[in-house]
Amino acid sequence: MKQLDSKALRNAFGSYMTGVTVITTMTDDGTPVGFTANSFTSVSLEPPLLLVCPAKSLSSFEVFANCKHFAVNILSEDQQNISNIFAGSKEDRFSQVEWQTDAQGNPIIDGALTHFSCKTERNLEAGDHHILIGEVLDFSAREGLGLGYASGGYFSLGLEREAAEISSQQKQVNVGVIIEHNGKVLLSQNDGKAALPITTTDDHSSAVSTIRQFLINNGIDAELGAVFSIYESTKNNNSYIFYRAFAESADTQGLGEYVAIDSLAKQDFASPAMAQMMTRYAIESKNGFYGVYVGQEEHGKVH
Ligand SMILES: Cc1cc2nc3c(=O)[nH]c(=O)nc-3n(C[C@H](O)[C@H](O)[C@H](O)COP(=O)(O)O)c2cc1C
Repeated sequence: MKQLDSKALRNAFGSYMTGVTVITTMTDDGTPVGFTANSFTSVSLEPPLLLVCPAKSLSSFEVFANCKHFAVNILSEDQQNISNIFAGSKEDRFSQVEWQTDAQGNPIIDGALTHFSCKTERNLEAGDHHILIGEVLDFSAREGLGLGYASGGYFSLGLEREAAEISSQQKQVNVGVIIEHNGKVLLSQNDGKAALPITTTDDHSSAVSTIRQFLINNGIDAELGAVFSIYESTKNNNSYIFYRAFAESADTQGLGEYVAIDSLAKQDFASPAMAQMMTRYAIESKNGFYGVYVGQEEHGKVH
């Protein structure tokens, strides 16, 4: 059999866009356990079945391999921090979130879009994972949009749609990109002022396809991430959309130079809006939770 490159395979699997869930259960001694999972799939309506794949490497694997009940919490678009807690935190994960228990005693996370309370129907070994099949005993769902995940990055469908709507309503939208490489971001210097790489959409192109093409045209090998900021200038009525991107190499292709995120505050930016945005970027990159600013140049809200 052909030897597959496992890193490339992981990336290929990751190109499948999913939502994000937290899978929870209770140990026999009453300790809540949980992990972030995007391997969740609905399986059958009659009987009502779903599945999720816990890795054998999970510290809680033995608990999930033997659990009689478990719950699936589908995260809403504002619960990226909860996904990060249940994917990485070594502290007590449940002390960092609000939660209740369902009728089977499974932890149910407050604010999640949907909860499924399940009885374990089957637990199958599958390579370095198990396939945990649950029969849905009960569920609750509310209106809203789920958190998205693709190619190693989160996205919010609501905000992506907002960006798409702005770029379809307006003839021209300014689309910029914060390209990150090794703790630095790419900035150009014009007349002593720092600026981000930026371009404009033409009549028929969307913001995301414009910025993707801009990166290709400039020979920047970068993976495009989520929207970081959407704002309108009250002075010239122009709309601006900024995306995040992650470059593989330090090659700037003549677009400017990479500047350490730690020293962004010292930069003299071309506009106060850009300065504000990059100050927020520096703060958020420290804690790893990125919000999305939506509003006008001076007044808006970070989601
Ligand atoms: C978006 C996302 C999806 C994930 N999906 C899965 C999954 O389906 N199965 C799994 O075992 N781990 C998955 N993980 C990784 C686990 O959440 C992570 O390894 C786990 O929380 C580590 O827990 P531990 O420190 O208790 O071992 C995912 C992580 C993220 C960020």
